[in-house]
Amino acid sequence: MSNETEIAKRRTFAIISHPDAGKTTLTEKLLLFGGAIQVAGAVKSNKIKKHATSDFMEIERQRGISVATSVMSFEYKDILVNLLDTPGHKDFAEDTYRTLTAVDSVILVVDSVNGVEEQTRKLMEVCRMRDTPVIVFVNKLDRDGKFPFDLIDEIEKELKISLHPLSWPINMGKEFKGVYNLFDSSLNLFTSGQKSTEENSLPIDDINDPLLDQKVGERDAAQLREDVELLQGVYGALNVEDYLEGRVAPVFFGSAVNNFGVKELLDTFIHVAPTPLGRATDKRFVQPDESKFTGFVFKIHANLDPRHRDRIAFLRVCSGKFSRNTYYKHCRLGKDIRFSNPYTFMAREKDVIEEAFPGDVVGLFDTGNFKIGDTLVEGNEQMQFTGIPVFSPEIFKELVNKDPMKTKQLEKGIMQLTDEGVAQLFTQHGGNRKIIGCVGELQFEVIQYRLLQEYGASCSFTPLSFYKACWITGDKKAIDDFIRFKHSNIMHDKDGNLVYLAQSEWFLNTERQNNPDIEFHFTSEFKTAMA
Ligand code: G4P
Repeated sequence: MSNETEIAKRRTFAIISHPDAGKTTLTEKLLLFGGAIQVAGAVKSNKIKKHATSDFMEIERQRGISVATSVMSFEYKDILVNLLDTPGHKDFAEDTYRTLTAVDSVILVVDSVNGVEEQTRKLMEVCRMRDTPVIVFVNKLDRDGKFPFDLIDEIEKELKISLHPLSWPINMGKEFKGVYNLFDSSLNLFTSGQKSTEENSLPIDDINDPLLDQKVGERDAAQLREDVELLQGVYGALNVEDYLEGRVAPVFFGSAVNNFGVKELLDTFIHVAPTPLGRATDKRFVQPDESKFTGFVFKIHANLDPRHRDRIAFLRVCSGKFSRNTYYKHCRLGKDIRFSNPYTFMAREKDVIEEAFPGDVVGLFDTGNFKIGDTLVEGNEQMQFTGIPVFSPEIFKELVNKDPMKTKQLEKGIMQLTDEGVAQLFTQHGGNRKIIGCVGELQFEVIQYRLLQEYGASCSFTPLSFYKACWITGDKKAIDDFIRFKHSNIMHDKDGNLVYLAQSEWFLNTERQNNPDIEFHFTSEFKTAMA
């Protein structure tokens, strides 16, 4: 098959949601449709327990298992779907943000009872930065949730995206009768526990067809007619370009646990979702159909099991064809590397692969060569994929060395762990104070444990009450004055960029007002265009 055919065949995406909205359940149902798993529950058993906050070894153990489900590939109607898993635990949200750099679109699950939640908002912000196309799945219609029009309003306002309903529910909770598919004018009747199949889907070309009254009753039929008329008047037909450019998100309603509305979602997804897209680099834009291979590392998974101290770097193929045992240039290190056992993730198996195409994710065994964002290319071109920004951490703690004899080990360990993306490291400007920034408490436990186990270095953390890390740029004199004035709040990130740690929102706003010649950025990637 030619590269063009391989590209046209692929859809690479992630499912994102606030914990408990139904991401795992929906993933599982999609895999069942794709024949990738036979038994319901297979994905769930791999899931990181969302509410566990103390037993991080257990979480790590489960993370280990979840490598196998990091990328789930399956074929559905001749389309090769690559579904990239994102961790359910909010303390690993950064993993999710990075995974979003490797997908071409997302399905966002919203719980119809809880509506938009904190994590939904954050994830959507990341999608908006890259104009990632989004399809919304409003889940748990079998429960008494918010009214659909209210939900649409809430999602549009809170997530700052225009929605376009492609299906519409008939009641909810105990009264839930099904969904009307606005895309192909069919009615899908709901029976609890029974998935949407061809049999319970009726074509109703004309919404005035009396069959509708027979099936759902006169009152609900009248309400649906009213709703559909309103929806058609307001939304008209979906403009796929608007979706592909991230301006409009199609919406489906259903119930993942009942496998209801999932098939409609998947059918529309493979129809409208983008094929593997190009990516920006610091030099030029790379198109997927270019003949030479390029790719970037978006995630590194370290195994905590002392018997298997291997790391796996996850590489997204951006262009050309990746082949086993072929030398590629590691652009940051400037050296050629080849991989004898790259693997792909088909269904539940990890298989060694011979080749991979744009949109695919390849697992590479790593002995410490990679850090997040590293670029591999075929040939000699020198470039770095961009659009893998680092966001401000939420919790800051000072790293305290508890064993001065092991200073070197501690330094090396913390450098390597932060290369893997476990946490962010900030070093005091003009000093050696080290501050670690994370999004969750759990990550500090992971660092402490791994520094001791893997590097023999023991450390503790002193909590600091910083609110945000802002990367600062601007007029040189203004920056110099600011550094002098706010000396104890000025740090360098690992790449040497200047960072201001603000104690509170008030401080940040005051500094912004007082320093109009300085720009305060909330992500590390302010110099380069987003991919
Ligand atoms: P997550 O990955 O987004 O965190 O959510 P997950 O799929 O684990 O779903 C969270 C809970 O919501 C699960 O219940 C799941 O069964 C339930 N759920 C998912 N879809 C639906 C739906 O359409 N309707 C209803 N009523 N519930 C749904 P749990 O009690 O936490 O787990 P379990 O014991 O059912 O496995």
